[in-house]
Amino acid sequence: MTEQQSLSAADATRTQPHGDLTAYYGEPENRKEYLRELFDDTAMDYDRILQYAFFGTGNFYRRRALRFAGLKPGMKLLDVACGTGVVTVQALHTLEPEDIVCVDPSPGMRKVASEKLGERTPVLEGSAEHLPVEDNQFDLLTMGYALRHVTSLEDAFTEYFRVLKPGGKVMLLEISRPKGRVSRFFTRLYMRDLVPLISRIVARRERGHTLMRYFWESIDQCVPPQTILDALESCGFKDVSRRAELGIFSAYIATKPEGND
Ligand SMILES: C[S@@+](CC[C@H](N)C(=O)[O-])C[C@H]1O[C@@H](n2cnc3c(N)ncnc32)[C@H](O)[C@@H]1O
Repeated sequence: MTEQQSLSAADATRTQPHGDLTAYYGEPENRKEYLRELFDDTAMDYDRILQYAFFGTGNFYRRRALRFAGLKPGMKLLDVACGTGVVTVQALHTLEPEDIVCVDPSPGMRKVASEKLGERTPVLEGSAEHLPVEDNQFDLLTMGYALRHVTSLEDAFTEYFRVLKPGGKVMLLEISRPKGRVSRFFTRLYMRDLVPLISRIVARRERGHTLMRYFWESIDQCVPPQTILDALESCGFKDVSRRAELGIFSAYIATKPEGND
């Protein structure tokens, strides 16, 4: 997809991350509920799927990305779309458990995350568009592989701006569709066909397959990286950048200006 997708003609400044995938949830208004159920149903299998489908590389990659974003001891971190807590676990190599707050809309994912992280790290119900935290609280906000699920980029980024301290950073991890024809062919083959197959075997049920097929479809339909960078800037962030590895693993980093910037 090369053009910005607007939610409606009357609201052209809100960018939907991807077009509606009606083959999965029928009418667009069913999307939120469909996603909550899909993530609830697969929460118990999520970590094993990551482990087998991506050869256990995800933990290393997430930890390195946190370092790249400048995570340091003593910082306050908000992990949005925490899922089972895979980004948070990597942040715990640097931070104390009480320095981190996790947020996710799926009760199933939150249950797995809470059991894994323990009582010292709050795991709150909420979404990127409605964060259950006060203004100007966090030094770093992370969102791992969930930007495609927000209602609009601007709704999420406006919230991120609100909850970050001046000088605080946002770091978004996402998969981007590769540009070249050959790499697109192989990425599609692996992500669209093999990863869902592996996930079905690992989860021992169809939902694992659906989760990872949806994962690929939403990546394939996602707005281009430049649209994400532009949306961050339009919401007030500065020093907006994207670091891409192998043409597909993207880390978007942006800073909330200090008062006098
Ligand atoms: C693929 S998991 C990502 C988990 C983890 N962050 C990671 O790095 O693997 C996507 C998560 O996004 C959550 N999610 C879906 N819609 C969301 C929204 N609008 N705001 C925040 N999180 C959302 C889901 O409940 C799910 O736990």
